Amino acid sequence: MKSVSVAIAGCGTIAMMKHLPALKNNNAKVVALFDKNTKAAASAMKAFGSQDTVIYDDYDSMLKDERIEAVYVLTPNYLHASMTIQALEANKHVFCEKPMATNYEDAKLMIEAKNNSGKLLTIGYQYRQNLDSIYLKKECQEDVFGDIYYAKARAVRRRRIPTWGSFFNKEVQGGGVLIDVGTHALDLTLYMMDNYEPAYCVGTTYNAFSDAKQQANEWGNWDDKTCDVEDAAFAFLVMKNGATVILESSWVLNVCDTCETQTLVAGTKGGGDTFDGLRINGIKHNTQYIIRPDVSKTRDKPFLPNFTEDDRECEVFLKAVCGEGELCVTAEQAATVTRILEAIYISAETKQPYYFK
Ligand SMILES: NC(=O)c1ccc[n+]([C@@H]2O[C@H](COP(=O)([O-])OP(=O)(O)OC[C@H]3O[C@@H](n4cnc5c(N)ncnc54)[C@H](O)[C@@H]3O)[C@@H](O)[C@H]2O)c1
Repeated sequence: MKSVSVAIAGCGTIAMMKHLPALKNNNAKVVALFDKNTKAAASAMKAFGSQDTVIYDDYDSMLKDERIEAVYVLTPNYLHASMTIQALEANKHVFCEKPMATNYEDAKLMIEAKNNSGKLLTIGYQYRQNLDSIYLKKECQEDVFGDIYYAKARAVRRRRIPTWGSFFNKEVQGGGVLIDVGTHALDLTLYMMDNYEPAYCVGTTYNAFSDAKQQANEWGNWDDKTCDVEDAAFAFLVMKNGATVILESSWVLNVCDTCETQTLVAGTKGGGDTFDGLRINGIKHNTQYIIRPDVSKTRDKPFLPNFTEDDRECEVFLKAVCGEGELCVTAEQAATVTRILEAIYISAETKQPYYFK
């Protein structure tokens, strides 16, 4: 694969922790950086810049840089749609962080801009690229499980409220834990099911802990006066083919079994989950079995142990930019995730089931 020239818009945590290291590991050229906070852009320059990297003061000027083939939109959620559309209109491919947008209308406008530009658009659902997910997806694709009619999407923390950035700000984020991490679990589960046709859902959201006095939070005490988003959200989702998806998401919930993003799928022939490492279950020789594939022993190149899910996600995108492969996360799939999240919020607000048209 040739070295792709990219620009970073938003040089904060996810740029520094995920994308810039992954771009380096995939031999990409970071030719442009932009952040409204000049210190953040300067830090990215120091850690990952080269003599070819330019720091821009404004987004419009950066998008005129003809060297840029792809723009990484890594800003807070409310900016994803406008910055992605602008980059597509400037004839750049776009990698936008999750969630795709704060609402479905914006996600549809992003798809329209993508289609008009003929450029690529993908969204940062990197859990699809961990080794358990890759194996589980192959089982689904090879019809090992038969028709999948039950699934569970889990992103459940006990006391892990993020206490930095704008996580508590509904206008900036579009919501709380559901749009923050519930989105990953739902994306992973729909991807395994390969089912993007929702029929109806019932959602509930809770802001149960914003004024808790004993916080015991892993990331320090949160400010109880500034939280206007949910800290837990649950949903019962029925797909058009009758399949059921249960979604559980929380930053703070009084449970013992916690996880960042897990999935379970169960079909007419077998099932699989990532609840306790990867487990596959089925029936053979009239006997029930459970196997635990040891994905760490996989030997294909993308499975090298030091090549992380972030690196694989980056590789898939850059190869697609070079015309050497397909995107893994399509804009249409990510828009459906956004559509369902929005429906869960509406159902919780109205205390009614939400029916998709
Ligand atoms: N895939 C994942 O697992 C994952 C994990 C964390 C964050 N994210 C996503 O990444 C995005 C950024 O999150 P983060 O944790 O890096 O946040 P952050 O606050 O650390 O970084 C955001 C950066 O954007 C900059 N910014 C804000 N407004 C801007 C503007 N108008 N123009 C230019 N720059 C602007 C800020 O100065 C900051 O440096 C969010 O959408 C979040 O959902 C994804």
